Amino acid sequence: MSETVAFPQDRTCPYHPPAAYEPLRNGRPLSRVTLFDGRSVWVVTGHAEARALLSDARLSADRENAAFPTPSKRFKGLKVRRAALLGVDDPEHNTQRRMLIPGFTLKRTAALRPRIRATADRLIDEMVAAGPRAELVSAFALPVPSMVICALLGVPYGDHEFFEGQSRRLLRGPEAADVEDARRQLDAYLVELVERKRREPGDGLLDELIARRLETGEVDVEELVSLAVILLVAGHETTANMISLGTFTLLRHPEQLAELRAEPELMPAAVEELMRFLSIADGMLRVATEDIGIGGVTVRADDGVVFSTSVINRDGKVFAEPDHLDWHRPNGHHVAFGFGIHQCLGQNLARAEMEIALAALFERLPGLCLAAEPDRIPFKPGDTIQGMVELPVAW
Ligand code: HEM
Repeated sequence: MSETVAFPQDRTCPYHPPAAYEPLRNGRPLSRVTLFDGRSVWVVTGHAEARALLSDARLSADRENAAFPTPSKRFKGLKVRRAALLGVDDPEHNTQRRMLIPGFTLKRTAALRPRIRATADRLIDEMVAAGPRAELVSAFALPVPSMVICALLGVPYGDHEFFEGQSRRLLRGPEAADVEDARRQLDAYLVELVERKRREPGDGLLDELIARRLETGEVDVEELVSLAVILLVAGHETTANMISLGTFTLLRHPEQLAELRAEPELMPAAVEELMRFLSIADGMLRVATEDIGIGGVTVRADDGVVFSTSVINRDGKVFAEPDHLDWHRPNGHHVAFGFGIHQCLGQNLARAEMEIALAALFERLPGLCLAAEPDRIPFKPGDTIQGMVELPVAW
């Protein structure tokens, strides 16, 4: 019975929705699931309903709302729940987002492409020099997006161990105290960086925001730092997981990989299909502020709502043979980057990074293979962004 399904759960295979979600895949667009604390919330699994609800202003992303659902134990009792952008509703959200949009246009992202390729090539050179084996997450999947977001924002990459470590704690805990401490440390780091940049301006997006928004009094340091934290964390963790899990998935699908190698121009379609298939941000959260009739049910005010992107993106009404990885699938408008006002701000950048990183990897290392039994390679638990913890490879 779907009433008894717990959410979220760990995946059984890193690139498929958890087997335990099977009862949620049987046609009903919304079901009830139980969170770790026993609270019953709605899970949205229908594609049309997900898009309708994600663009419905009666669902709020405000984490300070007392009825906002808590997805796992480590977020219980957090004193600071406020999150910029992702955690605020319009009109405040719109004001924040408009400040950041110029930094993430297609044109601006396109201009970063040569730099992304150079970064990927340099990392592969280092892997080859130390090879013929590597742990791909630390050698490649994490440093590519980390270096790119540093270059974009104007954050010194020399500090990467610090902010990567704190981002990991922010997303994965293990306890509320870790999450809170990580947030404090990232805030303190960025306050200091902003102050330094005010004295010695550079040419990153943060420097632009300081000149155009902070010095003009439009935002204060606290607000600027809260935006910088989300850009820094969202900017490297997510894409790193897509590169590691994307590589694992390609190595486990030799036919599709061979096709991609024979026709490299398929790469943008392959990245889109991998986004759909892997749905690494599985469990977006909202709370209803009014009653909403949808999919034959009524979501009541104060009900918690979670979006299982892994199930939504395999809705058979939209995606034929949804469990099959297919580069030639017609565009079904997956929701792996979200939908509506919070749809991923960094999606152009993320696409460019994934295309370039995967192309460079498979082009430069034609013999790339897994260097451990596939089912012994650790992947992330269900209550965080999905991806590989480690990825031992050889070539
Ligand atoms: C493949 C990698 C990525 C995935 C899968 C991903 C996924 C998502 C998803 C699902 C959302 C919506 C969350 C919600 O509605 O609750 C989102 C929002 C966001 N993402 Fe990404 N993201 C990725 C890469 C990036 C990158 C590279 C950046 C760059 C800084 C970024 C910045 C953001 C920001 C700022 C938001 C909040 C937007 C808003 O609330 O208006 N993301 N992302």
